[in-house]
Amino acid sequence: MAHKVGIVGGDGIGPEVIAQGMRVIEAAGVELDTVDYDLGGQRYLKDGVVLTDEILDEWRALDAIYLGAVGTPDVPPGLIERGLLLRMRFELDLYINHRPFLAPDGSHEFIVVRENTEGTYAGEGGLLRKGTPHEIATQGSVNTRMGVERACRYAFEQATKRRNHVTLVHKTNVLTFSGDLWERTFNEVAADYPNVETAYNHVDAACIYFVEDPKRYDVIVTDNLFGDILTDLGGAVSGGVGLASSANLNPEGVSMFEPVHGSAPDITGQGIANPLAAILSGAMMLEHLGETVAATRIRNACEAVSAETGTTVEMGDKVIAAL
Ligand code: NAI
Ligand code: MG
Repeated sequence: MAHKVGIVGGDGIGPEVIAQGMRVIEAAGVELDTVDYDLGGQRYLKDGVVLTDEILDEWRALDAIYLGAVGTPDVPPGLIERGLLLRMRFELDLYINHRPFLAPDGSHEFIVVRENTEGTYAGEGGLLRKGTPHEIATQGSVNTRMGVERACRYAFEQATKRRNHVTLVHKTNVLTFSGDLWERTFNEVAADYPNVETAYNHVDAACIYFVEDPKRYDVIVTDNLFGDILTDLGGAVSGGVGLASSANLNPEGVSMFEPVHGSAPDITGQGIANPLAAILSGAMMLEHLGETVAATRIRNACEAVSAETGTTVEMGDKVIAAL
């Protein structure tokens, strides 16, 4: 039976790269039963719709969601990010953000497991006395035992299928409350995985190691904000953000797959966006749907052409030729 997949091309280069992802999936012989959702900044400018309860209900019945990128410069910052992306993560409880990277020397792949529903992105805080000389902005970091534990547990599970090593990345020396909860929870989960080796890095040090010594990493687990920043760095050091793919997972529900990059308004419509990150995110989706053979073929094909250049469509052609 065909897998039922919701497609959100989104804004800017989003639809351009997703179109190539869909071509490659079809060429790899996987049949998808797709439903298109016109959402993002452009849709909002048309009729004010960001995301509806009805759409969320439809999504809960899907096998997966495949998303390009959302956000346009003409829409106030945060409106689409919070109203669509973050709301999707919260309502579908996409609590794991799983992002694989190839080490810069090509030696191995490592993954960042980013907690995806809490931290400073949970929306706690507010503005007081806005617009006055005495205005105050607070933005708290929300960390629940349950949220931290399920992220850590997922990371350790992943490690057992890889090199049996997990690094916690945080800033426990300064963020002593959230750091304390993360550290204790991490250590308690680690006790259930005696064969998995553990390490700890402060996030600023991790930035150095990402560039200078990524060999030390197998699985990294970290909070929402650190993970967001660290994975852009991961993309940059491992072949560019044009290659960085990601999965927003609810292991018990519907999951969403998207490239790490955004809608790239600076190159929209020029046909030059690199579609490999979107194609690789498509491969992650196929893997999740149980189409492991097709997923491996697509990953290998992407690797074979990753050093090549070309237009968006030409890169799609090259991947299909290399399948
Ligand atoms: P961005 O990732 O869109 O662009 C950063 C830089 O990388 C730009 O110079 C862009 O041209 C380049 N780039 C990105 N993807 C590329 C690709 N596939 N091929 C070649 N070059 C590529 O990040 P930026 O500029 O911060 O955000 C633009 C918009 O995208 C904003 O509205 C932002 O909120 C949104 N965004 C959406 C995300 C999502 O839908 N998950 C994630 C990140 C940003
Ligand atoms: Mg980001």
